[in-house]
Amino acid sequence: MPGRTAIGLDIGTSGVRAAELSYGRGGVTLEKFGQVALPEGAVRDGEVVDRAAVVDALKTLWKASGFKGKKVALGVANQRVVVRQVDLPWMPLAELKASLPLQVQDYLPLPVDECLIDFHVTEEVVDGETRLLRGLLVAAAREMVSANVAAVEAAGLRATGVDLTSFAVLRSVGKPFGDVATEALVDIGARISNLVIHSGGQPRFVRVLLSGGQDVTDAIAERLGLSAPLAESVKRGSLEDLSEQDRSLADSAVDLMLEVFVDDIRSSMDYYAASHPAFPVERIVLSGGGSLLHGVAERLEAVTRKPVVPADPTAGLHVGRTGLDEQQLATVQPLAAVPVGLALGVIS
Ligand SMILES: Nc1ncnc2c1ncn2[C@@H]1O[C@H](COP(=O)(O)OP(=O)(O)OP(=O)(O)O)[C@@H](O)[C@H]1O
Ligand SMILES: [Mg+2]
Repeated sequence: MPGRTAIGLDIGTSGVRAAELSYGRGGVTLEKFGQVALPEGAVRDGEVVDRAAVVDALKTLWKASGFKGKKVALGVANQRVVVRQVDLPWMPLAELKASLPLQVQDYLPLPVDECLIDFHVTEEVVDGETRLLRGLLVAAAREMVSANVAAVEAAGLRATGVDLTSFAVLRSVGKPFGDVATEALVDIGARISNLVIHSGGQPRFVRVLLSGGQDVTDAIAERLGLSAPLAESVKRGSLEDLSEQDRSLADSAVDLMLEVFVDDIRSSMDYYAASHPAFPVERIVLSGGGSLLHGVAERLEAVTRKPVVPADPTAGLHVGRTGLDEQQLATVQPLAAVPVGLALGVIS
């Protein structure tokens, strides 16, 4: 029998997806995973804009996948989330958390009481006589998160926590690994991609990029004058009757978008490398639906000269009666990174 459980809920541009974990003495078990597609425009840049559509999708998801719990941990990722490296005076962690609002106003673009804030310590540093805690300050506008929380509540669920999507990816994908000291996790979504560089689970660098697979679909739609669903099929290579000319137009659109995207990742990684020379990135781990685009891994590998491997968010978890067979489970792996990581955040 499952013991305590936790559900992570990812409200993405292309769909809502959730993972239910149970945890006991034997470890953590993936009990359920499910997803339901969202109509275009229901979620924009991580923010629910069509509440009714999201509520519908959530109700369908709960009914179809048989999630038991109603409490969910939510993720947040968009350009209005502030993530920056900050040095604060050393103090015990509990005190630090309590005094955070007083200490971080200068770093925020909004009044601190309009933000949800968190601080992840990455290292202790000594500056002359002063002992400091260096870490990543994370702040999100409450108002932005509130639209997502409201949708969740209207679907009969309860949001018990909100976490940065990047940290969710870090938890599920950045688990202890062989002899790689520092790696970059890249979760490629439809409109949003998250880059997290970490050493042994400790984040060193986080960046939210406003690009993803949907940009590729848009480029194909525009070049070929196709509807979004048709352009999506062309992108996935599942549209057979395409003229040679259209196929080559589509290929060049994909190429161009890929180049821009990979360049974005490369320049963030260059920035990281210049500011963290002691912890060079040794490999790149890809997750998110956008990582399934043919050629992403190869191109990233060519440009960064680092090995690129797919994420395995269920590694280290037992798999319960999810209703998914092995092949289905393999297919959903890239999409499970965020919800599994959000649920792991409740457990840890
Ligand atoms: N087999 C595939 N080949 C190419 N692209 C794919 C494939 N499957 C999914 N995608 C792309 O993955 C993207 C969606 O990824 P994901 O589900 O991780 O995003 P999301 O979480 O809904 O969006 P976001 O994080 O940007 O809000 C879409 O652009 C979709 O076209
Ligand atoms: Mg996503």
